[in-house]
Amino acid sequence: MKCAVFPGSFDPVTLGHLDLIERASKMFDKLIIGVLVNSDKKPLIPMDDRVELLRELTTSLKNVEVVSFEGLLADFVRETGAVAVVRGLRNTIDFEYEEPLAHANRLLNENADTVFLMTAPEYSFVSSSAVKELIRYKADISPYVPQMVINYIEGRN
Ligand code: PNS
Repeated sequence: MKCAVFPGSFDPVTLGHLDLIERASKMFDKLIIGVLVNSDKKPLIPMDDRVELLRELTTSLKNVEVVSFEGLLADFVRETGAVAVVRGLRNTIDFEYEEPLAHANRLLNENADTVFLMTAPEYSFVSSSAVKELIRYKADISPYVPQMVINYIEGRN
């Protein structure tokens, strides 16, 4: 069984992430969404809620599992027995960020090969950091995130 890991902060999960998850879930027998516990950053959305939102948003994808992880991605890949890491690329800036990470992960774990998927053009401007900025100014985030995330954010205010 070929399993892949789709790692990220998902703070919050965007429409771009969901498109990549759906596409990657068709390429592997199992896709594990790894939500990074990043103790350096104060997240917009607490870890448990990020995991819960992702679980609810992917209930129809039966081969997708959502778990949190702490530490190195290469170790998480080893623990899960995955054969690949899936990352999305919107542009060359993403590629420049991702390239050294992909090499580092492979040096740490030879099975942590990264598979890059091009982000769908309609989501090429979407990022979690843009969403956070828009939320701060109470601007419309509907082109960026699923309705469930909007409801979650509105429910907190
Ligand atoms: O959604 P993000 O924030 O772009 O995801 C970044 C992520 C989680 C893929 C990256 O920060 C990561 O893998 N962090 C875990 C620590 C690690 O393994 N770092 C690379 C060592 S050089």
